[in-house]
Amino acid sequence: AGPCDIYACGGTPCVAAHSTTRSLYGAYTGPLYQVSRGSDGKKIDISPLTGSGVADAAAQDSFCTGTTCLITIIYDQSGHGNHLTQSPPGGAARGPEANGYDALSSAIGAPVKLNGRKAYGVFISPSSGYRNNSPNGTATGDDPEGMYAVFDGTHYNTGCCFDYGNVETTSTDPGNGHMEALYFGTGDGSGRGTGSGKGPWIMADLENGLFTGYSPINNPANPTIDYRFITAVLKGKPNQWAIRGGNAASGSLSTFYDGVRPANGYYPMKKEGAIVLGTGGDNSNWAQGTFYEGVMTKGYPSDNTENAVQANIVNAGYATTSLLSGPELTVGSSISLRATTACCTNRYIAHDGNTVNTQVVSTSSSDDLKRKASWIVRTGLGNSGCYSFESKDTPGSFIRHAGYHLKLDPNDNSKLFAEDATFCTMAGVNGQGNSVRSWSYAARYWRHFDAGTVYCEQRRAFSLGQPHVFQ
Ligand code: AHR
Repeated sequence: AGPCDIYACGGTPCVAAHSTTRSLYGAYTGPLYQVSRGSDGKKIDISPLTGSGVADAAAQDSFCTGTTCLITIIYDQSGHGNHLTQSPPGGAARGPEANGYDALSSAIGAPVKLNGRKAYGVFISPSSGYRNNSPNGTATGDDPEGMYAVFDGTHYNTGCCFDYGNVETTSTDPGNGHMEALYFGTGDGSGRGTGSGKGPWIMADLENGLFTGYSPINNPANPTIDYRFITAVLKGKPNQWAIRGGNAASGSLSTFYDGVRPANGYYPMKKEGAIVLGTGGDNSNWAQGTFYEGVMTKGYPSDNTENAVQANIVNAGYATTSLLSGPELTVGSSISLRATTACCTNRYIAHDGNTVNTQVVSTSSSDDLKRKASWIVRTGLGNSGCYSFESKDTPGSFIRHAGYHLKLDPNDNSKLFAEDATFCTMAGVNGQGNSVRSWSYAARYWRHFDAGTVYCEQRRAFSLGQPHVFQ
């Protein structure tokens, strides 16, 4: 059985069920998600494997070999047709893609294992998001509903708003109480909520406010929760709502809040029933996070039903796996990174001041130039599963992206710097060496252009040859 079988048994069936990792019903054999590849724009549906119900990640890997892939649709497994697709522009923000749409997620940003089988989650970078503004069967007005999601408890920020749940059908903010969605992060947005500790927290985005409990919104009973996999639970009915949470890989749920609605326009609720993943109700798209699975229900689930769902999630066996593919780098070693593109095989990633570029370097080059083209491989500052590249001749400075260009900057020890300076290697998309993607903007790759500046570009990868040791 899957989580939605359990909700159905409890009398609160799923009206939306999304997961790129597994079937959420024992009997669901339809597609989980769709990916499109950069090389020819072709698309493929990824379905669950018979038996385990885990997504057929091998089908994605084979389809995406030698190119890059984005997640284009996250299918609704509930039969209500509540599929999630690229978010349209909203009242707060336009996305970076055509017609103001938000960016799509890389198909390989969030590799994971379920009981030993590889699958991929949805890695949301700032400016990306998914949505359905023509929902069917979800709660509206003050209707009761429940929802849960499994997130990566280590991938978050303070930007508004990494949400999953019930939002406005217009992608605008008409006022308090027009949304009821799970939020995960350190909280931003008008009416900032905080729990105990430094965060991140599971909160409820009820529009114009992220709530950890009743107003005043600071609720010390809502703890910092940063397990690698977290289960986040939210439910609401007339003048009552609850937040629950726990470790998605073990143990049970705890209740962080269970009580009446906040004051000032949150009762009765004015839910509109649209569904979002990765942005706020008005398409505030500055947040980041990772989603593996989640549902919305008709009716207010009992704690017992949710406890059984948590046991089902734990049984799914979420565990980490490598973020890398292709030739490995050795942490601590000094390397140079050579372009493999036919035009430029004598060019290496180098720097000139804080500009990162490619330069022609050979064994007869000056020691100064060799050092500018030499990098010490470090454990990723923002994620230990990937790498950072410290300059050989400017210790303490690292390659980072900023405004989608690569730069050399001193480490300022901020969370943003660490994440901007973290890159994951993968088998080179041209079949040679490695391509290098940003960890935090997983769909963006190092790419050289006009043999000069190096960009961090969506989809187009710069394949690097085997590392070369200059020093
Ligand atoms: O409630 C926080 C955010 O405020 C909502 O997600 C968004 O619609 C509004 O900007």
